[in-house]
Amino acid sequence: MLPDEFNRPLTAFERKIDAEDKIEPRDAMPEKYRLHLIRQISQHAHSEVIGMQPEGNWLSRAPSLRAKQILLAKIQDEGGAWIVLVQCSRNPGYLKG
Ligand SMILES: [Fe+2]
Repeated sequence: MLPDEFNRPLTAFERKIDAEDKIEPRDAMPEKYRLHLIRQISQHAHSEVIGMQPEGNWLSRAPSLRAKQILLAKIQDEGGAWIVLVQCSRNPGYLKG
């Protein structure tokens, strides 16, 4: 006989997952699922900071103004993504307005 956990009816959240529907930030979800998403978003935010470092190291050595512009664009892109991800990790409904 299966444990009770496997005999209970599916929750609305599980039915949504099984139907491959998207889970939106303001949708009801199990607390462990929500905390796991926040952890993943936080790790992604950290990787954006790390992504700025190689270009930052080369900025002062870039051979031309054009090369500096390209490096700065990459740094700005990483920093922008970092800001959005930090906002999302602190307030998962951030992008929904
Ligand atoms: Fe990035």
